[in-house]
Amino acid sequence: MFKPYLYRIGFFILTLTLIFSLSSCASKKVAKVKKLEVEKEKVSEEEIPFIKSSQFNDPDNFCLLCHRTIYDQWKGSMHNNSYQDPVFQKVLAVASRDTNGKIDKYCAFCHTPIGVMSREFPPLDGSKLSEIAKKGIQCDFCHTISGSKGIGNCAFISSPGPVKRGPFKDSISVHDTAYSELHTKGEFCGMCHNVNHPENNLALEKTYTEWKEGPYPREGIQCQDCHMTPGPGVTKPNPGQASQFGPMRPHIYTHEFVGGNAVVTALLGSALHQMLAEERLKAAAQLEIVSSPKVTLGAKNEVQVKVTNKGAGHYLPTGLTEVRQIWLDFKVTSADGKVIYHSGKLDTDGEIDPKAVIYHTILGDKNGKPTEKVWFAEKILSDKRIPPKETVTEKYFFEVPVGIQLPLTIEVILKYRSAPQHLIDELFGKKKIILPIIEMTTAKAQIQ
Ligand code: HEC
Ligand code: HEC
Ligand code: HEC
Ligand code: HEC
Ligand code: HEC
Repeated sequence: MFKPYLYRIGFFILTLTLIFSLSSCASKKVAKVKKLEVEKEKVSEEEIPFIKSSQFNDPDNFCLLCHRTIYDQWKGSMHNNSYQDPVFQKVLAVASRDTNGKIDKYCAFCHTPIGVMSREFPPLDGSKLSEIAKKGIQCDFCHTISGSKGIGNCAFISSPGPVKRGPFKDSISVHDTAYSELHTKGEFCGMCHNVNHPENNLALEKTYTEWKEGPYPREGIQCQDCHMTPGPGVTKPNPGQASQFGPMRPHIYTHEFVGGNAVVTALLGSALHQMLAEERLKAAAQLEIVSSPKVTLGAKNEVQVKVTNKGAGHYLPTGLTEVRQIWLDFKVTSADGKVIYHSGKLDTDGEIDPKAVIYHTILGDKNGKPTEKVWFAEKILSDKRIPPKETVTEKYFFEVPVGIQLPLTIEVILKYRSAPQHLIDELFGKKKIILPIIEMTTAKAQIQ
């Protein structure tokens, strides 16, 4: 394909002036980043380096100029939203109140790394934060990570400057470039996608570990292959240009970073990211109904439901598992439409039937009482989730009265919600925000 080569050179000369004023730039390859390490390490506050926010380039007036497509993918992503996310803001305020501000920096380090390193955060209200720090996890923050201290609790080593690190060994640009193996591996994501309690080290989120111990790394499938390709699933190769001024390449990674969040993406105005999150959830699981073909009237009947995690590289659900809800809505109806059994429906407050099959974790506080407040968590009381590529079987028993009209229809829906409705009601006011429920997958069967 013909590329505007001369235009490209012209553009380079033009932007060189701009770049020189931003950095002391000499376009060269620099040394490879440190070898990957995979040990867990606690990051204490004293270790947080002091880096001014002005040392980072703003995506909106710099990276955008030459990486338009990538910019549009990242804008409105949960990485871009990580600080402004209203759910994070509300929960952080409660956490801060409960701990007299002790936990503020710990929480914010992952959600606005630039804000914490620049000491613009605290104060909690964000009144000292520069505009760039509010943009969350952004281009220059990720692409100037020069190494890692391990896995979890913000183990990144940040070295802002002219060198942008990425996956190419032959990249030529007006800014310096360097190949970084770290950026091509799940260990890069693992620096933040494993969260341990700052005092008792309890594993609060362990997406990286779930992936690492599962089947995907053995097949060479990294987080990037699912979350940085058009998806859902591993959609490689994805040919394109990393910059409109760069060459055509056989594969480039995308930057929407889509997970299951169809709430905050929508609240903060990205219909694209909302739609992609729903699409991803719908491709994650599979249901199968197993039952005897004959109904036994006047007695208990058994039906099994098999749930398979076919698309997620980690447990279903993962991440904030004490809050995320995946559950089975299981319904048996007679031929004339009478519901004879229903498990997993919502009550008028939006709470799930307590007897339903729910996939999530329950955290316990120091008295062993269930808590949704991670800062009070000291143990995991229960963990019922579905590991990657595994199937779990649920058994349902229901009475079929004599005289019922056959056949019976069994309908099962696997549902996803980002949080219990009561939690959102507590944070935002009763029914101010009604959380959407996404139907991940369904199955239907008839028995005579
Ligand atoms: C003046 C244009 C321009 C600007 C501004 C710019 N880039 Fe680039 N960048 C390029 C070009 C051209 C390439 C080469 C693309 C290729 O090799 O396919 C590139 C390559 C890269 C690479 C790949 C490096 C590698 O070795 O893998 C990264 C990462 C990158 N840029 C990040 C950024 C970030 C972050 C910003 C904002 C802080 C930015 N760029 C601003 C033009 C630019
Ligand atoms: C959460 C960290 C993160 C953020 C935020 C981020 N990137 Fe990347 N980016 C990566 C990783 C990781 C790769 C390499 C993936 C791989 O090779 O496996 C990458 C790849 C790239 C590349 C190489 C081409 C490609 O797509 O494969 C360019 C250029 C780039 N990013 C620019 C940007 C720009 C510009 C922004 C902001 C609009 C941005 N990135 C935001 C992590 C990030
Ligand atoms: C600097 C820390 C950091 C790094 C590095 C990082 N993430 Fe994230 N990521 C976050 C935070 C914080 C959020 C949550 C923001 C929120 O919900 O408010 C997030 C959100 C996400 C989401 C959206 C989750 C949802 O519920 O929809 C996905 C997907 C994701 N990250 C994937 C990745 C992948 C893949 C990588 C590696 C290429 C990566 N992240 C690297 C901190 C990080
Ligand atoms: C085989 C593909 C695949 C791989 C590999 C993979 N994921 Fe995912 N991920 C998914 C799918 C599908 C979903 C949506 C279902 C869900 O929410 O669990 C998802 C959801 C997520 C979420 C949102 C969870 C929620 O409900 O809030 C995060 C965060 C995330 N992934 C991060 C990662 C990280 C970090 C890695 C690597 C350590 C990774 N993923 C590896 C497919 C993958
Ligand atoms: C080591 C990095 C890290 C630290 C520290 C951290 N988080 Fe997060 N946080 C994440 C990641 C990654 C996600 C996304 C997981 C997912 O989507 O399931 C997330 C998601 C969230 C969400 C969900 C937002 C939404 O829209 O659903 C809230 C709320 C939150 N964090 C609050 C906190 C609080 C409060 C603290 C301190 C007690 C904290 N975080 C500390 C990495 C971190």
